[in-house]
Amino acid sequence: MLPNTRGRPQQRPPRSWSFSEMVDFSDPKRRPRYLSKVIMVALLTAMCVVMLTQPPCHRRTPSVFSVHQPGVTHVLVTGGAGYIGSHAALRLLKDSFRVTIVDNLSRGNIGAIKVLQNLFPEPGRLQFIQADLGDPKAVNRIFAENAFDAVMHFAAVAYVGESTLEPLRYYHNITANTLVVLEAMATHSVKTLIYSSTCATYGEPEKMPITEETPQFPINPYGKAKKMAEDIILDFSKSKKADMAVMILRYFNVIGSDPEGRLGEAPRPELREHGRISGACFDAALGIIPGLKVKGSDYETPDGTCVRDYIDVTDLVDAHVKALNKAERGRVGIYNVGTGKGRSVKEFVEACKKATGVDIKVDYFPRRPGDYAEVYSDPAKINRELNWTAQHTDLHESLKVAWTWQKAHRSGYEPPQAMIL
Ligand SMILES: NC(=O)c1ccc[n+]([C@@H]2O[C@H](COP(=O)([O-])OP(=O)(O)OC[C@H]3O[C@@H](n4cnc5c(N)ncnc54)[C@H](O)[C@@H]3O)[C@@H](O)[C@H]2O)c1
Ligand SMILES: *[C@@H]1O[C@H](CO)[C@@H](O)[C@H](O)[C@H]1NC(C)=O
Ligand SMILES: *[C@@H]1O[C@H](CO)[C@@H](O)[C@H](O)[C@H]1NC(C)=O
Ligand SMILES: *[C@@H]1O[C@H](CO)[C@@H](O)[C@H](O)[C@H]1NC(C)=O
Repeated sequence: MLPNTRGRPQQRPPRSWSFSEMVDFSDPKRRPRYLSKVIMVALLTAMCVVMLTQPPCHRRTPSVFSVHQPGVTHVLVTGGAGYIGSHAALRLLKDSFRVTIVDNLSRGNIGAIKVLQNLFPEPGRLQFIQADLGDPKAVNRIFAENAFDAVMHFAAVAYVGESTLEPLRYYHNITANTLVVLEAMATHSVKTLIYSSTCATYGEPEKMPITEETPQFPINPYGKAKKMAEDIILDFSKSKKADMAVMILRYFNVIGSDPEGRLGEAPRPELREHGRISGACFDAALGIIPGLKVKGSDYETPDGTCVRDYIDVTDLVDAHVKALNKAERGRVGIYNVGTGKGRSVKEFVEACKKATGVDIKVDYFPRRPGDYAEVYSDPAKINRELNWTAQHTDLHESLKVAWTWQKAHRSGYEPPQAMIL
């Protein structure tokens, strides 16, 4: 849990293990200044004293999160401090779900968690647990201490370029960690899983658009790790004993942010070089980087640049909620989540220039390893079965919304003074 530093009423006294977690809230790159450290230590000491002086029976009061409540669906959102996970948590909370976020903040933002906590401070709505999904003991304890009805598993590392440089990091944090989550679900009889997969599992199919029947031949470690995780989930769900309700969503390229400007996309600065196109466009518009480096202009596409299917995050999280509501025991649903329309990098850059009002400098470079020329979805199945359609299909509109947040948060969720450039 992320409690008490702001004096918010406590849901339940934190267990001892959350203390050590609180100490390393700050990322090594933004150490709190000396004074805030002193305040932190003083607060922790005060909390310890309060806890120790409370009678033990009082300490045992079960948390609201630890009991199933009729009419309330409690969703574990892994990776909920990240870009898509935070938007999903916001939507779930808005729709009256009970949410527990587990994230180890290796890539997500505590700032996003704070935004959500401030929006939903009522007891029993939102709980944050900082833990690493690569730690089976920690994951097991989380499942033992909480009564989840469903899991949305977003936590992962998610950069194609990085995956070609550090494949083990990908197999570990995608495939192995998904196995850990699945084992905990099996042990604790949590039956519903919504899994974040990707169009990268298809590789470079010969035929467009991509349907769910398109054969999966991923061509980079990111896509392969996700495909392996899918296979593990599917094999497990086929076993009778499992009796799982599984929804696998294969996202295309995700863009945009909360239309009300509460959340945004804020990857770590050190990940910029691996970053996705929208982040790079905004960084260029902000003058953080000199311009855009487009990797590859000799693909076999209409204008030579890669073609992608850009899906707005608001539509994407809507697909998750629809998938959750339609999930059924003993059934697996696999769905592409895209608009069905491909746009070239050149088109994207034009939309970005228009959205930001900045004449971004564009340079063309050789192709990037692990990239494919053209990818767009056939969303007919999800339209038909989940009654889902992309609503935010105007690139310029989606980018304008995201740009509004970016402009107001030049250093992401960090306090402004942390920006050193
Ligand atoms: N962004 C896209 O375009 C896109 C496309 C297809 C699929 N996806 C998938 O969507 C999911 C979310 O992606 P995102 O763009 O929000 O990424 P993100 O990096 O913003 O979020 C991932 C979150 O997972 C957390 N995490 C990673 N490893 C962890 C661990 N071992 N223990 C606990 N937490 C951990 C990170 O701290 C981060 O908050 C991923 O599974 C990704 O593969 C994303
Ligand atoms: C997050 O998890 C990874 C393992 O996946 C671990 O190496 C890293 O130290 C963790 N980071 C934090 C801040 O807990
Ligand atoms: C992923 O796994 C590697 C081990 O292969 C670990 O060192 C790293 O910290 C993990 N976490 C992330 C977020 O990459
Ligand atoms: C499908 O969604 C639309 C709006 O998105 C709604 O008006 C309609 O009633 C839905 N149909 C069904 C069968 O749920």
